[in-house]
Amino acid sequence: MGAVAVKLELGDIQGLFARGYGDLKAAAFLLLGIEDAVAARRWLSEIAGAVTSAEARPAGHALNVAFTSSGLARIGLPADAFEMFSNEFVTGMTTPHRSRILGDLDGNAPERWEWGGPSGPQIDLALLLYALDDAGLQRLEEEQTGRLTAGGLVLRLRLGTSDLDDFEPFGFRDGISQPFVEGLSKTGPAERTVRAGEFVLGYPNEYGLYTDRPLLDANDDPASMLPRDPQGSGCADLGRNGSYLVFRQLQQDVPDFWRYVDGATRGPDGTSDPHARVRLAAKMVGRWPGGAPLALTPDADDPALADANDFAYHELDPRGARCPVGSHVRRSHPRDSLDPRPGTGDSWEINRRHRILRRGREYGTSLTIDEALAGGDTSERGLNFICLNANIQRQFEFISHTWLNNPKFDRLYDDADPVTAPSAPFGGTFTIPTDGVRERVTNVPRFVSVKGGAYFFLPGLVALRYLAGMTGEPGNSSSPVGS
Ligand code: HEM
Repeated sequence: MGAVAVKLELGDIQGLFARGYGDLKAAAFLLLGIEDAVAARRWLSEIAGAVTSAEARPAGHALNVAFTSSGLARIGLPADAFEMFSNEFVTGMTTPHRSRILGDLDGNAPERWEWGGPSGPQIDLALLLYALDDAGLQRLEEEQTGRLTAGGLVLRLRLGTSDLDDFEPFGFRDGISQPFVEGLSKTGPAERTVRAGEFVLGYPNEYGLYTDRPLLDANDDPASMLPRDPQGSGCADLGRNGSYLVFRQLQQDVPDFWRYVDGATRGPDGTSDPHARVRLAAKMVGRWPGGAPLALTPDADDPALADANDFAYHELDPRGARCPVGSHVRRSHPRDSLDPRPGTGDSWEINRRHRILRRGREYGTSLTIDEALAGGDTSERGLNFICLNANIQRQFEFISHTWLNNPKFDRLYDDADPVTAPSAPFGGTFTIPTDGVRERVTNVPRFVSVKGGAYFFLPGLVALRYLAGMTGEPGNSSSPVGS
């Protein structure tokens, strides 16, 4: 569709849409259960004014709040209101169909998860807290946890995060590439500027349409708190300025990752080759550890290109001799290399329908490559993967299933994403096209495992106040998250 002027109601959208709060280095995610709907609604009306909007960069701290479908039911949203929420959100991340799509099988099956699965604790709400430093976070957290009991809420799990200086635990710079969003202040090339309705409900998406969202009968909003459907149906728009938040706690086996690439690149005499091992790891990711894209600098890391993101693949690297087609960044965002007409605006257009806003945070401590290879530190580390999108199926799930986990992605044969995908039955080969004979490594194990996850709804601020003002009886969601 290209960029169109749109006026976003930033004061009504939760701040995580506009920014990942990069200046707020300390963060914690509190996963809560609702035990008393009336008290929880009172709590929500009390904290609604403290929820950070997307309007201005918050100075000292930020707070955002998101609900699972069971959370919305338990706080009293009537059953018929769920009909227009997305099916993925209502039925949840752990249906058998979704487990197949997301590769959550065997050791990663939801039955084994610590939270979000059938045997984990009931998760109704996520309170996302951010502060400048640990001391600030502690104050914010104490203030918020001090309100829970009176608010009819119980803390089920606290997910801490770590500031690894913008590197993820395998040792690669993260948080570089994000879509430009129409209506936000940061602007970029038209082909990479995505319509706001791809990430926030109530605005046109890449098809020029409004993504499905919860619209209520006007009688359910007699005080006219909610805006009315801009398409003129007269319905009260509970979805407007809301988004879907995908949360996956992904544990990373850092020693295993570096042991694998070390083993796969040893010389004929069995000695380690530090250059070859970093090269292989970079080929798997698609960027060098410092962040520079292989598409621009295929032979060595280049600090001057650490933030570079203005590139495409088709002209420069159609076969993947620089950045392998199967690498993590190329398959999670193929840019202009999608069929049927790679290198054209049509290809970019298809690509724009499958973007996400990544807002995750790392947890655990970092390891150098030598420390990882030494293997002594087995403590847990990984990524609290969070992303926002308006259509979970067409965005997050499509990227996971059709691009990351697909062994036959873009003419590959047995190559799922070497960084995040499950190994067999999804493939365990990684192919590196070169200008000469192609290289191939096999038996790539799984380095990332799922510890928990859920789909959340991140309502607009007016919608939060509407939810706080409801008077209905709590219901049961058709798909409770947890037991
Ligand atoms: C532990 C798991 C993961 C690790 C270690 C990881 C690591 C990385 C790294 C190092 C980058 C490059 C830095 C950047 O462009 O910001 C990146 C980019 C990206 N990742 Fe991941 N990632 C993980 C999981 C995922 C998942 C589950 C998805 C989606 C379902 C995803 C989607 C993306 C996307 C869309 C990009 C941007 C690519 C681009 O625009 O060029 N990642 N990831």
